[in-house]
This record gives sequence, structure tokens and C-alpha cells, in this order.
Amino acid sequence: MFDTVIANGLVVTSGDSVRCDVGITDGKIAGLGIGLVGRETIDATGKWIMPGGIDAHVHIAQPQGEGIVMADDFESATRSAALGGTTTVLPFCLQERGVPMRETLTAYHARARDNCYVDVSFHLIICEPTEQLLGQDLPALVEDGYTSFKIFMTYDDLKLNDREILDVMTAARETGALVMVHAENHDAIRYLTEKLEKSGHTAPRYHATSRPVVAEREATHRAISLAELVDVPVMIVHVSNREAMEQIRWAQQKGLKILGETCTQYLTLTAGDLDGLGMEGAKYVCSPPPRDAASQEACWEGLRTGVFSVFSSDHCPFRYEDEHGKLTPRGRTSFRWVPNGIPGVGARLPVFFTEAIHGGRLTPEQFVALTATNPAKTYGLYPRKGTIAVGSDADIVIWDPDREVSLTHAMLRDGADYTPYEGRELRGWPVMTIVRGRKVAQDGEIIAPKGHGVYLERNRSPFASRAERSD
Ligand code: URP
Ligand code: ZN
Ligand code: ZN
Repeated sequence: MFDTVIANGLVVTSGDSVRCDVGITDGKIAGLGIGLVGRETIDATGKWIMPGGIDAHVHIAQPQGEGIVMADDFESATRSAALGGTTTVLPFCLQERGVPMRETLTAYHARARDNCYVDVSFHLIICEPTEQLLGQDLPALVEDGYTSFKIFMTYDDLKLNDREILDVMTAARETGALVMVHAENHDAIRYLTEKLEKSGHTAPRYHATSRPVVAEREATHRAISLAELVDVPVMIVHVSNREAMEQIRWAQQKGLKILGETCTQYLTLTAGDLDGLGMEGAKYVCSPPPRDAASQEACWEGLRTGVFSVFSSDHCPFRYEDEHGKLTPRGRTSFRWVPNGIPGVGARLPVFFTEAIHGGRLTPEQFVALTATNPAKTYGLYPRKGTIAVGSDADIVIWDPDREVSLTHAMLRDGADYTPYEGRELRGWPVMTIVRGRKVAQDGEIIAPKGHGVYLERNRSPFASRAERSD
């Protein structure tokens, strides 16, 4: 007798789709079979039973520049995640200059503790790679389950130069951590930004002009080359276009361990979305910027062919009608001051389900691989997370594969005041989200107490482990 049985559904994993029941006991998947009996039975006739989504790239309550505030705290971001079929999120802990990383992490844990509906684990962002951090603190942090960190090649206050990147990659190699790279050429962007501003081109749409494909392609190639030099795997995150995708494919074909991620915005938005009247375009300002229809197709190609193994939201929410958000007074003087980032943790899976599965671009199994299994494997959470197998956490989403929904921001319940995907006609909807055996969201309502989500210590990525290396 199981605690709960999900009966009569189609169980979809990254490997197969099988009609069977799922038995859950003590928050774990305890049996798969026909005719299972539980104290509670959830009838999933006509539904698909998929592993809960893992959004491996989100920003939550991350401190911003002066006067800017991120729209989500851990409660609102994880509420939206649960409603959208995501059961684990991986936000970033941003290093504060001059402050020990442990201290900053303690503050992030305090913000997250007792406030999450879904499970959470932290990547680190390294913006000041001191000897103390790389030599002393990181090895201990990696040992403690902070096994991945992001570095930036752009943004005034975050970017690392090539030497610093090499040092961080070396520390990753020594500790077995996985480096995630935001690849855009900062000097090229600065050069173009200043030129645009001088000629009076300051509206949000020029954000896209200031960050062209060539700046992303060059930085992607440079990141790959630096990783080759150090002999360390890296994940190139939020890839937006063909040229960057092809750099990754080239590296993979050469035998380098380069991984790739793309996001909802690069499949569904274009630079044209930044063209809105007045400041409307600010709603779509993110980096890299959305490109064009051909770039969208290239990103789909990357997903279909395995160049990209992870699909994320890069959720980075700012309110629009807010002087601490997209309508910051400085943003009206130039696109350069509009906070970068868009919300997407709740919309990621329903939008992707519609476009990938009903759009005939990916199989249901590929959908699961990209949204749950591969993120779990890549970031050291597998097989606890990311699959439906005996012994795994019962993180399960029941999808109505044919439910038609006109998406509105009100359904997503994050802390922003808009969604870039407003009004999209979707087919396929997560009708129930179960986290470690407990129903957290059902039919658009949250039904678990805040605080059900727990912090997850992670293993090292198998891609970054010594066993995978040539030495
Ligand atoms: O515009 C974006 N993507 N903002 C979030 C920070 C980042 O670069 O991922
Ligand atoms: Zn980034
Ligand atoms: Zn990001």
C-alpha cells in the first residue's frame, strides 16, 4: 500500500513513455506498475505524468545597482515556478565585493528558508576572483555542495578579464566544479553603446543593436578557447543565435566538453519586441537580446540535435510600472540603464510544451530531457531529481496535454507586473505539481504551505568530475 498512487496516466521520462501507475511513499517514488494501490489515488486518465521541471537558471532576490529592485523574493518566484510545473529552481548567489562568500550565502539561505514552495539550490556568481576565494573558500564551498559558478564577460560591475577567467576555470578544474559563462564581448558592447548614445539612439530598441550577434559569437569562441587551454568543461548559458550555437557545436565536434543552454525568450521573442512605443520595449530588455526568426530556428536546431542540453528561463524579473524596475528614471535617458532581465520561471514549461511538442519540433521525451533530466544530471542532482524512477524524489507534474490556455500574467503569480508571453495561445498545461510527494499546486492554486521547498546540497557535475578528464 503506497501513500499515493497516480493511476492511469502516461509516464514520460527522457527515455520512454509508458502507461503505468506511479506509487509514492514518504515523498519518494516507491513503485511503478499496473494496478498499484494507495491510501490516496489520483486519477490521471488522459494525462501525462512527467518529472517536475528543473529551472537551472533563475535570478531571485539578487541585489541590483542603485535604485533597482528585483521583482521576486523566494516566495513569489517559487510560487510561480510551482504553478508552471517546476519543482526545483537553481538561483544564483552573487558574490559581494570584499565580503566572504560564505557570509553572502548565509544571507541568501536566510531569505530562502521557510519561504519556498519548491526545492532550491544555489549556483555562485564570481565577480571578484581573489586568491582567498579561489584558493581557500571555493574548494570548501564546492565540497559543501555549491558545485557550479557563473562568470560574466560583460556588465560593468560583473565582468572578468581573460586572465581572471583563466584563474576561475583553473579553480573549477581543481575542485571539480562546473563553470557557467555569460558570453558577450563587453568592450564591443561599450563601444557600440557610446556610439548609439552619441547619435541620440537611446530608446530600449537600441539595447539589441548594442549587443549584436558578433559580440556574442566572439565571446563564446573565446570562452571555449580559454576552457580548452585549461582543459575544463564549461556551460555556455542563454545562447541566442546560430553563430554562437555553431561555436559550441564546433567545440563539441572537436571533442571539447562544452555544454550549451538556451531559454524561452530565444525561441519565442525577437528584437522587434523591443520596438514598442515609448518605453514598452523595456519589458523585453535582456542580455543577450532576442534576435530574429532565423535565430529562433537555430536555437531549435541546437535543442533538437543536442548542442544545447539544458533549457532554462533565465528568470530575472523587474516590474515594468515601477521606478525601481524597468521604468527607472535613468532608463528613459538611455537603454544602457534599463535593468537587464525578464520574468519567465512560470511561463517556461507551458510555452515550451506548446512550441516543442504541439509545434512538432521535439518529442515528449526530449522535452523531459531538456527541462528536467539533463539539468539534474548537469548540476549534480540526478537521480534524486529529474526522473521518474524508484528511489527518486516524487517531484512530478501532471500535464493535461491538450488543455488550451490563453496565457495571462495573472496565472503566473510571480512578483512582476507583466509577462513577455502575455496572450500567447498555449496547448498543454500543468494541472498538478507534486514536490517530494506533496501536492503543491493544483489547477492554478497553491495548496501547500510556503516552506515546503527545501535547500538541496548538490554533488559535483559528472561532466566536471576528474574521471571525465584527460589527466
Ligand atoms: O538579461 C539578463 N539575462 N539578465 C539576467 C542576468 C544574466 O545575465 O543572466
Ligand atoms: Zn547571463
Ligand atoms: Zn541569468
